[in-house]
Amino acid sequence: MATPLGIALVGTRFMGRAHSNAWSQCGRFFELPRAVRLGAVAGRNARHTASFARRWGWVGASTDWRDLVEDPSIELVDVATPNHLHAEISIAALKAGKHVACEKPLAGTIEDARRMRDAAAKASRRGVRTFVWFNYRRCPAVALAHQLVREGRLGAIHHVRAHYLQDWGRASTPLGWRFKRAEAGSGAHGDLNAHIVDMARFVTGDEISEVVGAIEETFITRREIPMEVGSEIAGTAARARSGAGGGRGRGAGAGGARRAPSRRFGRSEVDDCVLFLARFAGGAVASFESTRLATGNQNRNEIEINGDRGSVRFDFERMNELLWWDDALPSKLRGWSRIMCTNAGDHPYASAYWPAAHLIGYEHGFVSMAADIVRALGGGKPEVPLPDFEDAWRTQQVLEAALRSARTRRPVAIESVR
Ligand SMILES: NC(=O)c1ccc[n+]([C@@H]2O[C@H](COP(=O)([O-])OP(=O)(O)OC[C@H]3O[C@@H](n4cnc5c(N)ncnc54)[C@H](O)[C@@H]3O)[C@@H](O)[C@H]2O)c1
Repeated sequence: MATPLGIALVGTRFMGRAHSNAWSQCGRFFELPRAVRLGAVAGRNARHTASFARRWGWVGASTDWRDLVEDPSIELVDVATPNHLHAEISIAALKAGKHVACEKPLAGTIEDARRMRDAAAKASRRGVRTFVWFNYRRCPAVALAHQLVREGRLGAIHHVRAHYLQDWGRASTPLGWRFKRAEAGSGAHGDLNAHIVDMARFVTGDEISEVVGAIEETFITRREIPMEVGSEIAGTAARARSGAGGGRGRGAGAGGARRAPSRRFGRSEVDDCVLFLARFAGGAVASFESTRLATGNQNRNEIEINGDRGSVRFDFERMNELLWWDDALPSKLRGWSRIMCTNAGDHPYASAYWPAAHLIGYEHGFVSMAADIVRALGGGKPEVPLPDFEDAWRTQQVLEAALRSARTRRPVAIESVR
């Protein structure tokens, strides 16, 4: 067998945990061409990073990510930091000849995303690969929807309707990095619309050609500044629950977070919600909606696609199921079928896990993605396509077009975003 694939991880909180679990589990559930070696992890706080490394099985720990990028035993650098660091770390790693698996959105700004795309294109000439953690592609139900469209079972697609609704961004949530423009780039938009734009492109196999109109709204402009503990944010460390956004405290006293004696407030600089309408090159029309203020919707990542032969509907809160309408059936039999996407041999990734209807969860999307990355680096094929920086750049163009459309109140052609 080939030598183990040396991995380094930057970031030790929400995604740091999801990725650590994925790298350590992928070789257990999947037959892979190479074993994985959890080389080293970098974080900001020495004590926390060392204890994280011990807990998750990383051999080394550092407070400087450059140590990892320069380490000759590392072949792949995994970037799970706030968005403003994606470009600097990824580009340094690519220059050092490392493969990069970076979190979404590709970057906080279109300029950073462009630099990353260009660096990836250059590195790919030397055989260096890039990947972006659009993990929802690897929910078996979403991968199945992608396969059904490719098989032509939906026919010509007319409508795509996607929303990603969360409610943790209420006024009591402290001013973490997700509310700072310089660190996050945008708010719900880059955090949540990034996922559903990627899913819509992935499932339909089509590209968005135009954003026709958009709304960008910030309802809560002032938030409490959380106290720094070492160099970690108290509210972040005490995260109660999180979805795609993650890393957000639940207000004063969340999870026992300690507070500075006098409360200080700062400006929340990003959108709380962005809604937009778009057209696909193939003719379909689409609506996208993301928010952190949809009270009662904790992680409602939903997409529905309507073709002239059938439709599919996915809701992450019931992630093992795909709803399917087969319009070819006689009308007395037509209706929404609930497909439990857990049958080995028939449903993507199902063979790797448990018997039929023994459900999988959030973490399995990451395990399956880690497995597909190792397969790809071992010369094999992923079960469904893996997004690289070029692919994620296209999603970033759509995100940027939506912001420009909201700010100018005009349609924006995707090709004008360069
Ligand atoms: N794929 C998904 O569904 C999903 C879900 C959540 C977050 N994300 C993305 O993952 C990334 C990280 O989000 P998160 O929720 O894990 O955030 P988080 O706040 O929970 O963790 C961020 C981590 O980055 C570390 N960090 C910050 N600056 C650093 C530096 N200079 N050097 C080393 N480490 C540094 C912090 O110490 C922390 O450990 C973001 O890009 C976010 O958009 C993706």
